[in-house]
Amino acid sequence: MICAANWKMNMGVDAARTFLRDFKKLLKEDEKKNFIFFPPPFLSFLFAGEDLHWGGQNVFFQKSGAWTGENSPEVLGELSARFCLVGHSERRLVFGETEEEIEKKFHLLRSLNILPVLCVGEKESEREQRDQILKRQLNFLKNFDPEAHDKKMISPEDYEGVPFIVAYEPVWAIGSGKTPSSKEINEIHQLIKNFLPVKNIPVLYGGSVTEANAVLFGKESYVDGFLVGGASLKAKSFYSIFHAGRKSFP
Ligand code: PGA
Repeated sequence: MICAANWKMNMGVDAARTFLRDFKKLLKEDEKKNFIFFPPPFLSFLFAGEDLHWGGQNVFFQKSGAWTGENSPEVLGELSARFCLVGHSERRLVFGETEEEIEKKFHLLRSLNILPVLCVGEKESEREQRDQILKRQLNFLKNFDPEAHDKKMISPEDYEGVPFIVAYEPVWAIGSGKTPSSKEINEIHQLIKNFLPVKNIPVLYGGSVTEANAVLFGKESYVDGFLVGGASLKAKSFYSIFHAGRKSFP
């Protein structure tokens, strides 16, 4: 099971160092593969020398150039990151990221051997049309053929043969304490998996994940892990989510 931490624009240097120190005390060697960290870019240097999976929260859709304030996916790879979030709802809604840009970022990352974690999810006002919204956000992958696309992509260690990851995050559940029921989450993950043309895509759930609800969500057969925001900022609570959710993934 995958337990991913989206730190957003939280943590400072000292707080991140403390987190890593505490987290490594809890972590067992054979559990390392299950965790992925998405620190804010200025904290990347703390992960560059660590034996942990980590990635960017966002990159630009060009490798370099006159794009003041943007982050290069190529440099992310040079720093040893092997993952990157793409299309998080905060990027889509606050920063106006378009589906066209998301598609470009997705393919550029793959061409650089960085595994995209594509975030999808409906807004509160879109709940009635949820399935159509999700299909629209995933539509550019309809003809995805891992053989035809960026054939040479080397997946990160522990993720062999996984061409990308999807995170289902209903916008109304992010940071709100509200979540869909575990049955609903399972149905939506099944819908996503059925819609995708490749069969081995892990689908994570994100939005107000806690140790308590991870026990329930983790029991569902189509839930392959979690993308955790608020509860990933403390080493103990993040690590506990993994154990709570893992009960059903012996
Ligand atoms: P949350 O955030 O766990 O704080 O709801 C999840 C996310 O936005 O990825």
